[in-house]
Amino acid sequence: MIAQSTLKLLRDRFRAAIGRIGGDPDADPGVRVATEARFGDFQCNAAMALARKLGLKPPEAAQRIVAAVAPELAEVVEPLEIANPGFINIRLRTSYLARCLESIEPPAAGAEDRLGLPKVAQPERVIVDYSSPNIAKQMHVGHLRSTIIGDAFVRVLGFQGHDVLRQNHIGDWGTAIGMVILGLWYIAARLQRGERPAEIEKRIAELHALRGKPDETRQPVLERIAAEWSLDLENQALDDFADADIQLEQLELGYIFVQALVAAIGPLVIRVKRDDLIAVPQKVTRMLQQGGPENELERRAWRRAREISVAYCQSLYDRLGVLLKPEDFRGESAYNDDLPRVITDLRLTLKPRDRSRPAADAYGELRIDQGATCVYLYDAKHQPRFKNPDGQELPMIVQKSDGAYLYATTDLAAIRYRLMECVFPAGKGATRIVYVTDARQKQHFEMFLAAARALGWLTPRVNVQHATFGSVLGEDKRPLKTRAGKNVKLAELLDEAESRALRTLDEKLDQETGPQRGPLDEAQRREIARRIGVGAVKYSDLVRDRNSDYVFSFDAMLAMEGNTAPYMLYAYARIRSIYRKVEARLGKLDPYGPDVRISLDRPEERTLALRLVRFADTLDIVAADLAPHVLCSYLFDLAGEFMRFFEACPVLQAESDSLRLSRMRLCDLTARTLRVGLGLLGIEPVERM
Ligand code: ARG
Repeated sequence: MIAQSTLKLLRDRFRAAIGRIGGDPDADPGVRVATEARFGDFQCNAAMALARKLGLKPPEAAQRIVAAVAPELAEVVEPLEIANPGFINIRLRTSYLARCLESIEPPAAGAEDRLGLPKVAQPERVIVDYSSPNIAKQMHVGHLRSTIIGDAFVRVLGFQGHDVLRQNHIGDWGTAIGMVILGLWYIAARLQRGERPAEIEKRIAELHALRGKPDETRQPVLERIAAEWSLDLENQALDDFADADIQLEQLELGYIFVQALVAAIGPLVIRVKRDDLIAVPQKVTRMLQQGGPENELERRAWRRAREISVAYCQSLYDRLGVLLKPEDFRGESAYNDDLPRVITDLRLTLKPRDRSRPAADAYGELRIDQGATCVYLYDAKHQPRFKNPDGQELPMIVQKSDGAYLYATTDLAAIRYRLMECVFPAGKGATRIVYVTDARQKQHFEMFLAAARALGWLTPRVNVQHATFGSVLGEDKRPLKTRAGKNVKLAELLDEAESRALRTLDEKLDQETGPQRGPLDEAQRREIARRIGVGAVKYSDLVRDRNSDYVFSFDAMLAMEGNTAPYMLYAYARIRSIYRKVEARLGKLDPYGPDVRISLDRPEERTLALRLVRFADTLDIVAADLAPHVLCSYLFDLAGEFMRFFEACPVLQAESDSLRLSRMRLCDLTARTLRVGLGLLGIEPVERM
């Protein structure tokens, strides 16, 4: 009965009671957190449905529920009250709250602090597909959001005791990959010649400037650049480039160059060596995808480009303190060999539609349209599930006429692997899959998931969730860019957050203790600022409903007031310092001693205790709805309620030793809950601030 979710406990008891008196024993008993404190702590609205079922008036139905459930909950709740028309107001007994908190042991040394919460009885096998950037490109803020949000999911689900597997589905394959390889060769050759990135940037700008210019203007420029490039490709040993020491930013530059060059060609025929330039990237892609010893050069370049990209991502993950590890990278390339089978399976499984009979369920049909293999998806009434903006039915293309596979094909192969092959400690195949991408990919996910259902791979037993999120906007309310209109470099963004945090911290310490800044030396202050800076970037990604867009602002995320990381970290540090002060004055006390009782006589104590007891309920909501902002609000409320408790209820000056110990215990439980809660959001606490 203790230290589990109170909401679950109430639901179970109400559900059973309602079943016993003739209600639906499987229906949701409608127990919710009360909307206002005057209605109690929870409410139950099951009386309306029961009244309808039994032909009673709602107050009568409510009476019956109360009579049936009350004996079961005598130890847990105060006498139940009925409010019009038939709401049942539920107020927890203070003795129950105290008992819940008393049952939480101090954390064992070195072990994870679980705050007394048991792990789920039936762990799910969960895959969280997150971060998933594309190679040869810097991550943008969208990938940063996916990384931060996905990591919070992994931590919360893992904490609950689920079996969680992280998957970083990087874009390391597909049609663009030929350009990446060419980009690597290009940049390696240029750097070897001693050219500086700035010169390459100038050339890219020159190419961009060609856009829309007449053919006669474009031709000579393109020919000159192509001739230089041919020389590179002839003279340089491409083999050596595989080992060249190249950073991601340089690789990206090479890639952008190739993109700009190809984009500028238009109807012109430009040759590089003997090949028509416009066809070269596709040719390289094909050579790579064919494999075989004759294409080893392409393979090596691809491997190097991937390595450079993975190293860049991993260093960012490490800096952010997210859980992703090199072994979690399982990108699009991993599914290359499975793609033909996806097409075969679609061919064999999706039957032509027969409109004369009602369909049992949504279904799909495979058709070849102008050489491309397409999946059309219908609902049970034979209506197309997806349409263009102009109302035409929209297919999902799985193979182009030239044989190339697409993003959706790879996602089908990936979900097949995840559902049937992927190995967890406790067995094979995921029972829940969470995808974390921005909301613009919504339709892509709806389509390939519908196809996976039509194929019979994805059954209702598996819970698939596409956790979408909104955009990060600049102060101008447009997608975040630097002043020069470039993508923001994530490392620089973190640098900035950290250095601002350091400045604020130094100022604060100067004010409090003068220039000697108290007991914190330079290294300690830097570490605190690092945690605040990284924490602030993460927290601002997590604090509001993930689907809302938000304006990126260092000032807002680093503010000491409001629901921000610095505020939360400060609240934690403050409680710890209160605690240290009491200990310093009174010597080591053990608030977890066997005789210590938690006293909740003051309303502020009760409010704080109730909040602490709601932690388990909160995690359940966060995990089910994939809603980290619910945890942020919870922690914010907890911090506020703690401050009110602390103002109203003296700890050091408590009227008695036993009351002092009780309050110290509340302090410590609050600190632990903040610590665990922030940890689940991926935020490291600071002991002083
Ligand atoms: N690489 C993709 C992108 O940058 C995201 C991949 C998300 N995961 C997936 N299974 N499709 O947009």
